[in-house]
Amino acid sequence: MGTEQFLAKYKKQTNGSDRFLFFAPGRVNLMGDHTDYTGGYVLPAAISKGTYLFVRLLPENEIRLTSVNLGEQIIIPLDELSKPKGNWTDYTVGVLNELGKKGWKKQGLELVYFGDIPMNAGLSSSASMEVVTAFAINTIFKLSISSKELALLSQKAENDFVGVNCGIMDQYVIAFAKPHQALMIDCHALSHREIPVQLKGYQFVAVNSNVKHALVNSVYNQRVTELQQVKEIINGFFEVPYLGSLLGEDNDWLDKLVEDPLLKSRLRHVVNENTRVQLAADLLEQQKVVPFGKLMYDSHDSLAFDFEVSCKELDTLVKIASQTEGVAGARMTGAGFGGCTLNLVKTEAVADFQKKIMQNYQKETGLEASVFLLSLKGETREITN
Ligand code: GLA
Repeated sequence: MGTEQFLAKYKKQTNGSDRFLFFAPGRVNLMGDHTDYTGGYVLPAAISKGTYLFVRLLPENEIRLTSVNLGEQIIIPLDELSKPKGNWTDYTVGVLNELGKKGWKKQGLELVYFGDIPMNAGLSSSASMEVVTAFAINTIFKLSISSKELALLSQKAENDFVGVNCGIMDQYVIAFAKPHQALMIDCHALSHREIPVQLKGYQFVAVNSNVKHALVNSVYNQRVTELQQVKEIINGFFEVPYLGSLLGEDNDWLDKLVEDPLLKSRLRHVVNENTRVQLAADLLEQQKVVPFGKLMYDSHDSLAFDFEVSCKELDTLVKIASQTEGVAGARMTGAGFGGCTLNLVKTEAVADFQKKIMQNYQKETGLEASVFLLSLKGETREITN
């Protein structure tokens, strides 16, 4: 089933009193990866692809969950919602539990999910599922929970119920995004600046490496721990409330505080990446596409060498992009270890770019890449025909 068929089927069934339809987008991060959980800066935007959710109120005391994509239905009685199952339903049930703590009186629901974000592409299909659930229940039951609280409770569900210590970027941008705007989010203050995305003859193009290495969650949690260690070391010299507050190009002095070469490079990534986000936001605002692209390459190198969350497939894609006419910049985007690269490509060069990427990626890795244009126009909303 495709998006059109899903909408055609479920729009008909939506009546506004006990059946509803919602959408929440996925996201692509333009700059600033692995900085959100340090309280630093990020620059993501919502995309037009995302998760659709059909909700029907049920008299039975159960949650009936369907994933159209997986062709699976799982029924969970209301009094068995407190334990994770270790599958896709955890994203939803974690959110329902958090909503319960905010005053939602649990009741029977049918929840039918359909997503058109490619799976494992690093475009936040899971955060999109969390936020669409939180937004839907908040709207239907008139809970008056703010967008910020919806983002935070979705993140908490992922941290505590799913068990990934993710930062706030994905849920925040999905809850707040408006079409054709990136958000520069201050992940400590939990505030943002809207940055219009106008690329003057360029396009953002995603290339899916079509690999997702199994270690992503464990390495993610390991990086979170490493940065906590770095913070403790620095706090031995002076009080730093959160690592994301450390900015600046010239950070030799920070290098001197942290002796361990591995921890030193982790810190270097965070400080440089945070600094890049601020520059990148200004450049995007001023429509300075080429220097923005240069920062993308710098960011990729930092994620690959200092933070070590890239992989040979993503590095290969970035290398091919950098050798292709009309490409201003390329970087991995999101958590890493597979998923997509983000590329900034001249509109007239997109077709050649696609050809070259497909051919050379195949030649170098034996794998097939998928290339698609990103339309940055996602917004979380109720669909009311
Ligand atoms: C995942 C997490 C985010 C963020 C990125 C890396 O998408 O969910 O919180 O840390 O990785 O930037």
